Amino acid sequence: MALVGNRVALISGIARGQGRSDALRLAQEGADIIGFDVAADDPVLEYPLATKEDLAETVRQIEAIGRRTHIVVADVRDYDAVEKVIADGVKKLGRLDFVIANAGIAPVTNQIRFHRDAFVASIEVMLTGVFNTIYPSIPYIKAGGQGGAIVIHGSTIGVVGGILTEPSPGEIGYAAAKHGVVGVMHTVANALAADSIRVNVVHATAVRTPMVVNEAMARHFRDHPELAKMIENPLPTPGGMLEPSDVTNTVLHLVSDAGRYITGQSVVVDAGYTTYR
Ligand SMILES: NC(=O)c1ccc[n+]([C@@H]2O[C@H](COP(=O)([O-])OP(=O)(O)OC[C@H]3O[C@@H](n4cnc5c(N)ncnc54)[C@H](O)[C@@H]3O)[C@@H](O)[C@H]2O)c1
Repeated sequence: MALVGNRVALISGIARGQGRSDALRLAQEGADIIGFDVAADDPVLEYPLATKEDLAETVRQIEAIGRRTHIVVADVRDYDAVEKVIADGVKKLGRLDFVIANAGIAPVTNQIRFHRDAFVASIEVMLTGVFNTIYPSIPYIKAGGQGGAIVIHGSTIGVVGGILTEPSPGEIGYAAAKHGVVGVMHTVANALAADSIRVNVVHATAVRTPMVVNEAMARHFRDHPELAKMIENPLPTPGGMLEPSDVTNTVLHLVSDAGRYITGQSVVVDAGYTTYR
C-alpha cells in the first residue's frame, strides 16, 4: 500500500540532489508534488546551482512514476514568489499535506567563504527561505483537515557547529541558519500540534550531492587536508558520505503515518557523527 497516497507535498530546491530524491520517493509512495528551484547560479558560490534542465528532469521523472506536478522556477528568498507557487500548486493539485524545506547553498569554500555576503546569503536562503516556505503553507495544510507534516533539512552543523580551519562568514552563516531552523521547528511544532501537523528537522552528515561533490569543494579539501579527518563518520560510509536516499528514508518516515507521533524533534541521520564530537 502506498505510504502517502492522495497526499500533496511541497518541496523547495527540487531540481537535483536531496530535493529530487525526496520528491521521487514521495511520488513513488503516492504523493503529487508541488516544487520550485532557483535554477540559476549565485555569485556568492564557487559551484553551479541547478539548471532549468535539471528542473525539467525532476518533472519528467516524477511524471514517469505517474504522479502529477506543479513545479516552477522561483527563488526561496522571494516570499511573494513562494506564496504564488503554493497557491497555484494547491489550485492545480487540490490540497497540501507536507512541506519539505530543502533549498540550500554552501558558500563555505576557499576565499569566497570570507566575504560577508556569504554570511548574509546563508541566512537568506536557509533560514529566511525556510520561513518563506513554511509560513505561507500553513493555512493550506490546515484547510485540508487531515493533519500534515513539515520537514526541514538541517545539518549536523546545526547540531554541533561547523568544522573550521579558521572562522569565516560563510561557515558561521551556514551554521547559524542550520541552528536557526531548530527554533523555527520547535515554535511551529508547538503551534500546530493541536491540528495534528507535525514539524521536525533532519540533520544529515555529508551527503553525495552536487553541493559537496564539485571542483571548488575538492580544491578546498586539497588546500586543507586536515579537514578530511575532522569530518569522518564513525560508521563506515563509502567515500565518507551518505546517499540522498538514506536521508529520504527518514523524511518519508517522518511525513508518513509511521511517524504520526513524532514532532518537535531534531532527528540526526549522521552515521554517528554528532555522537562522537
Ligand atoms: N550535501 C550535504 O552534504 C548536506 C548535508 C547536510 C545537509 N544538507 C542540506 O540538504 C539540503 C539540500 O542540499 P543538497 O545537498 O541536495 O544540495 P544541492 O546543491 O545538490 O541542491 C540544493 C538545491 O537548492 C537549490 N537552491 C539553491 N538556492 C536556492 C534559492 N535561493 N531558491 C530556490 N532554490 C535554491 C539549488 O538550485 C539546488 O537544486 C540543503 O538544505 C543542505 O544544506 C546537505
